Amino acid sequence: IPVAPFVLTVFGATGDLARRKLLPALFHRDFAGQLPPEATIIGVARGAMTREEFVSLARAAIVEHVPASETAGPELDRFLTRLNYVTADAEGDDGWADLAAAISPCADRIQVYYLATAPHLFGPICERLGNFGLARNDSRVVIEKPIGKDLASAIRLNAAIGKVFPEERVYRIDHYLGKETVQNLMALRFANALFEPLWNAAHIDHVQITVAESLGVEERAGYYDTAGAMRDMVQNHLLQLLCLVAMEPPPSLDADAVRDEKLKVLRALKPIDERNAASLTVRGQYRAGASAGGAVSGYLDELGSNLSQTETFVALKAEVANWRWAGVPFYLRIGKRLATRVSEIVVGFRPVPHSAFSEQVGQIRPNRLVIRLQPDEGVKLWLMIKDPGPGGIRLSHVPLDMSFAEAFKVRNPDAYERLILDVVRGNQTLFMRRDEVEAAWRWVDPILEAWRNLNEQPRPYTAGTWGPSASIALIERDGRTWQEDG
Ligand code: BG6
Repeated sequence: IPVAPFVLTVFGATGDLARRKLLPALFHRDFAGQLPPEATIIGVARGAMTREEFVSLARAAIVEHVPASETAGPELDRFLTRLNYVTADAEGDDGWADLAAAISPCADRIQVYYLATAPHLFGPICERLGNFGLARNDSRVVIEKPIGKDLASAIRLNAAIGKVFPEERVYRIDHYLGKETVQNLMALRFANALFEPLWNAAHIDHVQITVAESLGVEERAGYYDTAGAMRDMVQNHLLQLLCLVAMEPPPSLDADAVRDEKLKVLRALKPIDERNAASLTVRGQYRAGASAGGAVSGYLDELGSNLSQTETFVALKAEVANWRWAGVPFYLRIGKRLATRVSEIVVGFRPVPHSAFSEQVGQIRPNRLVIRLQPDEGVKLWLMIKDPGPGGIRLSHVPLDMSFAEAFKVRNPDAYERLILDVVRGNQTLFMRRDEVEAAWRWVDPILEAWRNLNEQPRPYTAGTWGPSASIALIERDGRTWQEDG
């Protein structure tokens, strides 16, 4: 079913995000018949460029990122007719009258402004959208992380946007929330009666969340070095995943119902600061090593500097200090240039209280629910099962195994396809509210400060491994191990 007619203005339309994600996502949705004939996309950037030049840039980006089976037919040309281009200066007034003129024929449509630019331009762009009369009382604005680099800067940024757009029209993207498997967390927890009665400290021993990447920072080293893994991934994606695992069942999927519950989790996180950061956190930085494609450089070589202490890996032990989760460790781990690319949530249940089986028939291992977010998306529930055979009982640990690819023979849409259309639909459920972003910084800031004050150097790890050995010690000290095999 097509969404309502809209005009989407993308600032930073020639940049990396627009080319890799936004244009391909919009094309995919158009190909699937979800864009109405009146959907218009206006690219805005600082560089002088004709509409034809922008269209050929968009064509190249789509051909590069979308399978040839979709780009070979007439659909791509039809999609490109929706595009327009305006040159405008985000920090000056040049070009804004042209933008207003380009938007004005679409006055009857839903208006969306997507700020795919560097964050320091969010404030100036919103201000000009206001000054030039482009922010109507129903237009929406979309921004993406990094939303600040600490609590103070996030508050300033949110305030600058809030001067022009009220909160119910601000869409803060965390693209992890748009991933099919992340949305499935809510289905798994709240559309099944099986898990919820066990979903608490009485039955769950611990939770592990791993987001491992095999790639390094490569050409993003400039940005990455100002952020590091904590700001780049933990403050947003990992904490959002933790919230979806730990939150109370919301009364509905209404945006504020879900976001209220996530906020409570963020506020319940036990503080980590100078007193306990050394024992609860590990930061690492990769050195040269090997990945599947062969030898790879270390972080400092990619950056071209020997001085950086930026972390490319973080492992930490968090706790949600509330009635449901008291005492249950949430081990989080994220890093670049790790052994493989895998994002996974492992819920480790407590062992059975008593075994009726003798040790000879095999050890009873605790149940484990493994939610594989990517790749090979799926859900596995590890159970103890009797080995078939006439010779008496022998026990095995075997998964009930659901693979998305096998169960649903459809393409998994990219997160941006879902999220952009949700903006047009006016559905904020999968977007972060201002207070959530700020609560996440409120927890992260003292950790960053502790690292600074303790002069915690990142521990070196070899590219292609599972990170510094200290991260293994972090969990093994508690008598547990990271699960790397599903
Ligand atoms: C981005 C981070 O938000 O997420 C990147 O800035 C990271 O550093 C990326 O590589 C990972 O996203 P995905 O969807 O590939 O898991």
